[in-house]
Amino acid sequence: MTENSNESAPKSIFERMRQRLVPEGIPDDDRGRMRMVVDSLVLHLHPTKVPASTLRWTYTWGLGGLSAVLLAILALTGIILLNNYTPSAPQAYLDILELRSNVWFGELVRNLHHWSANLLIVIAVLHLVRVFATGSYRPPRELNWLLGVAMLVLILAANFTGYLLPWDQLAYWAVTVGTSIISYVPLVGEWLTRLALGGPEVGANTLLNFYSMHISFIPMAVFGIMSFHFWRVRKDGGLTQPKGVDDLEVPKSERITTIPNLVRKEALFAVTWIAALLVFAMLIPAPLEGIANPDHSPNPAKAPWYFLGLQELLLHFHPLVAGVILPGLAGLGIFLLPFFDVNPASVGVYFRSRRGRGLTALAAGLAVILTPAWVLLDEFLLDWTAWLPAWPTLLSNGLIPLAVLLLPLILLDEWMVKSFRADTEERVIFIVTFVFVAFLILTITGIFFRGPGMILYWPWVR
Ligand code: HEM
Repeated sequence: MTENSNESAPKSIFERMRQRLVPEGIPDDDRGRMRMVVDSLVLHLHPTKVPASTLRWTYTWGLGGLSAVLLAILALTGIILLNNYTPSAPQAYLDILELRSNVWFGELVRNLHHWSANLLIVIAVLHLVRVFATGSYRPPRELNWLLGVAMLVLILAANFTGYLLPWDQLAYWAVTVGTSIISYVPLVGEWLTRLALGGPEVGANTLLNFYSMHISFIPMAVFGIMSFHFWRVRKDGGLTQPKGVDDLEVPKSERITTIPNLVRKEALFAVTWIAALLVFAMLIPAPLEGIANPDHSPNPAKAPWYFLGLQELLLHFHPLVAGVILPGLAGLGIFLLPFFDVNPASVGVYFRSRRGRGLTALAAGLAVILTPAWVLLDEFLLDWTAWLPAWPTLLSNGLIPLAVLLLPLILLDEWMVKSFRADTEERVIFIVTFVFVAFLILTITGIFFRGPGMILYWPWVR
């Protein structure tokens, strides 16, 4: 065959892929072929070219990618941990002791799993905040926002079910307090709690239930939805692009090849985080207390840290309001956000506009001042049930204080509309920021400022 006829011969799928996808020459040997396989895998996740502006750290902060890296670490360390764990009491606890002292790198793997799981909650919430702050949930990305919300719920469920598995005092009582919140759901609460616990209280059945959810349904659902989430990012035309606060149009951005520009950045980012986590896990052990003792509750008995905002609310309101109505309203709000805040003009601008930035700062500032003020007032001064003794507690300690709290927020909203002609997106950013920061402060209060008997205390003075 002549050289000429060779050129016109149909190209193999590898050759065509290489020509289309890989910008620079790749040697035609085993390493070259290997690299092409890896590259084509990468190009299943990413488009071949991306706008250079979306690679800017200060736009996405790499938070979605970091969530994926953490999920990968969790899957890997989880599989290793499975080999040394029996989901029955007291063997579960003994297995953890054995893992810590007699299994090669057992303690390191457990620490890595523990810290990655906790960090994942923080990072996924920050990712949600970034998506919210840049308005990136607006059409056509509503479905991807909802997929993200579903993943966040699953991540919380994974953390909570995993919390019980070491079967120590911390696990036992945190899960007892955490699951008690479910029982406040009207009509089906008791039934739901029994279903989750596999009985009237936390016991051997709960451990088995939580274990099976933790290692099968939840991870399968998370990884399934994550693949869908990634696919949707591509389907929705890639990431939203950053826009300056005074830009009317998205600035033109050069499109650069994913390989090597994006992939190199992602790899460097992932390796740096994995190294940092490894060092952290080597230095700071995951907590483990004495074996679970159902007859002896620690004081204070707290839910896991990510539910302490909710537990704090329960200290102030009737359980139906704190455990069901408020979380239900917040959940509904998050769910509906992309359907009523739809203005495409400010997508990609952090906090919408200059005025939006001012309103975000105002809302955060107000929440930082008003939330602790209200916690202190309610703890030491307000006594709704004593003031309204004849009223059902759902009213006196639930709906009435709730109305008293919501009234200033509604008036503030009215004031913004009347005095500033605030539009939908400005009202949304104000209210969401206020509620988010208030919940953050409640969580911090629960973590640091609640002592024995769950009374308020100053942790640095004993
Ligand atoms: C384990 C959980 C999650 C993983 C692994 C994940 C992963 C990612 C990745 C890699 C991206 C593209 C890069 C980036 O924006 O950083 C992305 C974008 C996005 N994510 Fe997530 N995500 C998760 C949770 C969430 C949550 C909780 C939400 C919101 C409720 C969310 C909503 C979105 C949206 C709307 C986009 C498109 C943003 C844009 O176009 O600018 N994701 N996600």
